Amino acid sequence: MSGEATRPPSELTGPLEVDTGDWPTRELYRLLTGLVVPRPIAWVSTVAADDVRNLAPHSYFNLVSHDPPHVAFSSTGVRDTLTNIRATGEFVVNVVTAELVDRMNLTATDFPPDEDEFVWSGLTAVPAARVRPPRVAQAPAHLECRLAQEVAIGRATLVIGEVVHVHVDASVWRDGRVDPALLDPVCRLAGDEYATLGEVFALPRPRWERIAGTRPAPGQ
Ligand SMILES: Cc1cc2nc3c(=O)[nH]c(=O)nc-3n(C[C@H](O)[C@H](O)[C@H](O)COP(=O)(O)O)c2cc1C
Repeated sequence: MSGEATRPPSELTGPLEVDTGDWPTRELYRLLTGLVVPRPIAWVSTVAADDVRNLAPHSYFNLVSHDPPHVAFSSTGVRDTLTNIRATGEFVVNVVTAELVDRMNLTATDFPPDEDEFVWSGLTAVPAARVRPPRVAQAPAHLECRLAQEVAIGRATLVIGEVVHVHVDASVWRDGRVDPALLDPVCRLAGDEYATLGEVFALPRPRWERIAGTRPAPGQ
């Protein structure tokens, strides 16, 4: 059993213990999206069966495999993005940079299905190489995807896509790789809060052959 609170107390006098069934969905959403941070944002472009273009951000998103390459995002309820992917089997993940964040936010508006978010946000649609949905020209990188699998999770649908083509602009490439500082991605925190990358540091991974024979000191 959890503590007595059925919604977040304004101050904590000890650790918070919550059984997830005890809080209303809204409060649970705020708690979890505040803890699983930062979340990358997939700015997903799709086309409807009648070719109307669509663009919407999704921060329940990540890379889930590279061999073969797959990404996944989830749609809460059935929105235009999911409807379009079901109709065409294709989508593009556009990277959101700090410069694009206002336009990304505008595309999260609950536009009716026949409204084109590219037009509303003043973004340029350019053809993708392998799929029908267009790329956002202003975004510096794009993952062109084909629907691999849909997984129902209660009210949400997890969309797993195979990445069939990657586009990276020369402006974010340095020394043989994407430079995170040049990419300048924006990620989502809870509510209306976002973050940029901040400090980037390297941490080489330990190898067993290097530490075998040493032992942690007692109590560590
Ligand atoms: C930064 C950000 C992240 C979002 N992440 C998600 C998400 O992961 N899943 C979701 O269903 N909606 C998410 N939304 C809300 C959708 O973008 C919003 O409902 C949008 O209108 C859906 O558009 P569509 O109907 O064109 O698919 C997010 C909104 C913002 C601003």
